[in-house]
Amino acid sequence: MTVSVGIDKIGFYTPNDYLDMVDLATARGEDPNKYLIGIGQSKQAVIPPTQDVVTMAANAADQILTTATKKEIAMVLFGTESGVDNSKATAVYLAHLLGLPSSTRAIELKQACYGATAGLQLAADFLRVHPTAKVLVIGADIARYGLRTPGEVTQGGGAIAMLVTANPQVLALEPTSSYHTEDVMDFWRPTYRTEALVDGRYSTTVYLDFFKTVWTDYQRQTQRTIADFNAFVFHLPFTKMGRKGLRQILPEASPAQQAQLKEAFEASQLDNRHVGNLYTGSLYLSLLSLLRHGRMQAGDRLGLFSYGSGAEGEFFSGILQPHYQQGFDSDKLDQLLAQRRRVSVVEYEAIYQAQLSNDGRDVQLPVGEGQAKYYLAGRQHQQRQ
Ligand code: CAA
Repeated sequence: MTVSVGIDKIGFYTPNDYLDMVDLATARGEDPNKYLIGIGQSKQAVIPPTQDVVTMAANAADQILTTATKKEIAMVLFGTESGVDNSKATAVYLAHLLGLPSSTRAIELKQACYGATAGLQLAADFLRVHPTAKVLVIGADIARYGLRTPGEVTQGGGAIAMLVTANPQVLALEPTSSYHTEDVMDFWRPTYRTEALVDGRYSTTVYLDFFKTVWTDYQRQTQRTIADFNAFVFHLPFTKMGRKGLRQILPEASPAQQAQLKEAFEASQLDNRHVGNLYTGSLYLSLLSLLRHGRMQAGDRLGLFSYGSGAEGEFFSGILQPHYQQGFDSDKLDQLLAQRRRVSVVEYEAIYQAQLSNDGRDVQLPVGEGQAKYYLAGRQHQQRQ
C-alpha cells in the first residue's frame, strides 16, 4: 500500500510593517478601487533591511518545530527566487539557525514562484521511500518591483514553512499531479538586478494558459472532474489573478457547486490580500487562509495550482485530514497580522531604498522595535550576520 504523505504543519511569518493600498493608490494618482478591486489587494508587507529570506524562513519554521522534531528532520528544501548567495544555499544558513542536526541534507530550489511546490513534491516522493523521516519545506521571498511601475501594487513578502511527513495532520497529497514547462519570458530577474523584469499583462495570460493545460491534463490522468473537488487554491501574485483562474473553470461546475467554490475562494484570498505576493509561498499562504477562514471538512479534496514564471505550472490535489486545524496556530497568525505597523508611502520608499548595499562593505543594521526572533544584524567580512 502507498504511504500517505503530505503537509503535517504550516508556519507563516511576515515582517512588522505594511503599506495600505489606498495610501499607495493616492500617492500614485490611481483610483483606490483599481488596487482594492481591480488588483484585489488591500495591504502589502514592507520588508525592512533586517529581514531576508533566511531570517523570515527561520521565523516561520520556529513556530512549527519542537526540539524533538528538529532531531528528525532529514532534509531542508528551501524554495526561493530571492536568494542571498549565488553559491551557498539559504537552506544551509537556515539549518544552522534552527539548530538542525548535521545529518540533514539542505538545498535551495529555484524556479520563480514554483520552488516551494518543487520542494513539496520532492519531499513527498522522498517520504514514500523513507516514511519515518521528516522534511522541512520553505517558500520565502521578497516580491520587489520598481517604484512607480505597474508591478508595485503586487509587491509583498514573507515565508511559509511546512513540515512534510508520512501520515500528515493537515493535507495528504494524492500521488497524481500534472506539470508543464515552457521557456517563456513573462517575468525574470537577471543576476545584476534587485527588481524583477516583467511583461505584466502577458504574464497573466501565460498563468491562465498554464492553468488550463495542467487542469485538463490532471483530469485526463485521473478521470476526475470539477465535481470531485471542494475547493481550489491558487498561486496568488495578487488575489484577482486566482479569481480569474477560478472563473476559467467555474462553468464546468453545477450552480450549487459554483457557489461553494466561490465561497472557498473568498476564504483562500483573505490573508494574501493583506500581505501581498510571497512568490514561492503565495500558494501555501492561500491554503492556510482557506483552512483558517473557510468552512472546510475532513475528507474534502482540494485542488492546488502552482505557477512559476519562466515558466512552470503544476496542478495537484490533496485530501484534508481529520485534525487539520491542529497543524497551524490561527490565533498567532491573527496576532502577527493585527500588530503590524502601517507605514506611510514616504517611509515605505525609504525602506525600499535601504537595501543592504551590494558593494560588500561592513554594515551594522539598527535593531528596531518589533524585531523578530531571527533578524539580519548586518554584514562583516563579506558574511551576513
Ligand atoms: N475600479 C475597479 N477596477 C479597476 C479600476 C477601477 N477604478 N481601474 C482598473 N481596474 C481593473 C482593470 O479593469 C483590470 O481588471 P481586469 O484584469 O479584470 O481587466 C485591473 O484593474 C488591472 O488593471 P490593469 O490591467 O490596467 O493594470 P496594470 O496594467 O496597471 O497592471 C499587472 C496589472 C499587469 C498585473 C501589474 O500589476 C503587474 O505587472 N504585476 C506583476 C506581474 C504579475 O503579478 N503577474 C501575475 C502572473 S505571473 C505570476 O503569477 C508569477 C508572479 O508571482 C510574479
